[in-house]
Amino acid sequence: MINNMTGKTALVTGSGSGIGRSIAIAFGEQGANVIVSDISEKNANETVDIIKKSGGNAFFIECDVSVKDDVQELIIGIEKEFGTLDYACNNAGIHNPEPEYLPDADEDTWDRIISVNLKGVFLCMKYETQLMLKQRSGAIVNISSLSGLLAESGCYAYTASKHGILGLTKTAAYDIAGSGIRINAVCPGAVLTPGLAAAPEKFRQELREKTPVGRLGKPEEVASAVLWLCSDLAGYVTGTGIVIDGGVSTV
Ligand SMILES: NC(=O)c1ccc[n+]([C@@H]2O[C@H](COP(=O)([O-])OP(=O)(O)OC[C@H]3O[C@@H](n4cnc5c(N)ncnc54)[C@H](O)[C@@H]3O)[C@@H](O)[C@H]2O)c1
Repeated sequence: MINNMTGKTALVTGSGSGIGRSIAIAFGEQGANVIVSDISEKNANETVDIIKKSGGNAFFIECDVSVKDDVQELIIGIEKEFGTLDYACNNAGIHNPEPEYLPDADEDTWDRIISVNLKGVFLCMKYETQLMLKQRSGAIVNISSLSGLLAESGCYAYTASKHGILGLTKTAAYDIAGSGIRINAVCPGAVLTPGLAAAPEKFRQELREKTPVGRLGKPEEVASAVLWLCSDLAGYVTGTGIVIDGGVSTV
């Protein structure tokens, strides 16, 4: 156990699937009351069931992170039910459906991705910090990406949103540093989520070949970094982004 999170409250957005589900499960394993939030009630309830079956506490609250009223109600609901919000992982995100050629790039795709990935993280941090400031403690981790540091060809909105998340993280961490709240990010490379598992094997093989450690990342490996950043072990860490990419960004 990296930290005793028993009785603490942990929110994970987009935790009905993939990396978010693993993060929610990891918080549950550490004894936290986990708020599983997603736009998909069915998937989120599956995550809740997994956590409960292994003896943890989990609760579903529906929320579209791009909608201000949803985010506000999510935080009001957490305050009403638990009183505090100790940890928040702003994970919900969407990718470009396919790479685009810039001169033909679709404006609606841009608007949707920026709205979920970037505005969503802004709205979540805005309302999460309102509650955390009352208790003068808390830790937030935003999920950026290796595409927050490097170009991802043809994925304009996704790359811009993930770069933007790092800027939001640093600015918020700086502004709030004296209030007992730490804000960080993680930047995963290719992680074997259900989405990537469903992609053609040729694509996964190309990704493995580009990765110095020779394999794709596991969702649990992102979750362990998020939990460490939330724990007291990372008490002096704020405003940074941890790269979890099997060495891809070393060259
Ligand atoms: N999988 C990877 O290789 C990888 C790499 C780097 C970063 N990331 C980032 O990690 C995060 C999770 O990615 P994943 O691969 O697990 O994706 P995923 O598609 O498996 O899960 C994303 C979840 O977010 C939910 N969601 C989508 N839009 C939402 C909204 N508007 N409000 C609330 N929830 C919403 C979905 O319903 C889904 O449950 C994303 O931010 C993604 O950009 C993923």
